[in-house]
Amino acid sequence: MRPVTILVLSSGVPATTIAALAERFDVLGPGDAQEIEALVSSHGARIRGIATTGKARLDRALLARLPALELVACYSAGLDKIDTEALAERGIALTNSSAALADEVADLAIALMIMARRRLVAADAHVRSGAWAKDAFPLGRSVTGRRIGLLGLGHIGSAIARRAEAMGMQPRYCTRRPVAECAYPHHADARALAADSDVFVIACPGGTANRGLVDRNVIAALGPDATLVNIARGEIVDEPALVEALASGRLGSAGLDVFANEPDVPLALRQLDNVVLAPHLGSATIETRTAMGGSVVRSLERLLNPV
Ligand code: DGY
Repeated sequence: MRPVTILVLSSGVPATTIAALAERFDVLGPGDAQEIEALVSSHGARIRGIATTGKARLDRALLARLPALELVACYSAGLDKIDTEALAERGIALTNSSAALADEVADLAIALMIMARRRLVAADAHVRSGAWAKDAFPLGRSVTGRRIGLLGLGHIGSAIARRAEAMGMQPRYCTRRPVAECAYPHHADARALAADSDVFVIACPGGTANRGLVDRNVIAALGPDATLVNIARGEIVDEPALVEALASGRLGSAGLDVFANEPDVPLALRQLDNVVLAPHLGSATIETRTAMGGSVVRSLERLLNPV
């Protein structure tokens, strides 16, 4: 029997995952834009699966050239450049790795929250520079007992909420509709959630639907003692408004793993000492990246065992 053909669309899929796929499938790609174009032109009609990341464009025009496509397995949680609507219209299954990476990203959200509220980056510099001998380090802000607002309550938001609860925090959340059987207070509006939070964590998908969702008004509702944490996508926040609020003290602090135009981070943001910055490393551990690769392979294996 002829092996099932799949296309590795993105160069971001790790080599170990591609090797595991090659044991099971006839694998095309990865390659540069020109190579992918040539592969689609010659073999598009028999490609039944795609392994990709959310960063590679998978739009209507490309889908139209893949008539046999049944399943897309995304290595990342974010589906940024995948036209999910077009996939749904064709009944093409789509999986991502948000279950595999939720705990890792949640750990980072909690770390950024504590680092921002206790000013650990500045505290580290205080000790290293010898300033401790001259001055006491200023008091921080606690997390225990504080309200934590989750913008989004999927795999990642829920994993953050569980950790926060264990730390004595009080979760609340914002989603379009309340999550069934969830006891946390619900808000249907991001501004209302911000007004009801000491720590505001962005854990919703990016993409056009949520671009700019955390705007000037949402940031203003947080206030000078609050902390904003973003482990989702930079585009969800009005970055200039965030920088302004942090610089003027209208927002207390921020912990940011994602930015509007990565890897470019505005100088004004890099110069602030009430922010903690990370280079988009939410899922970046050996264990979790291995698990994410495994989830891509398992998803595509469905093509081998049709029900
Ligand atoms: C993803 O996989 O989309 C996350 O941003 C990982 O950090």
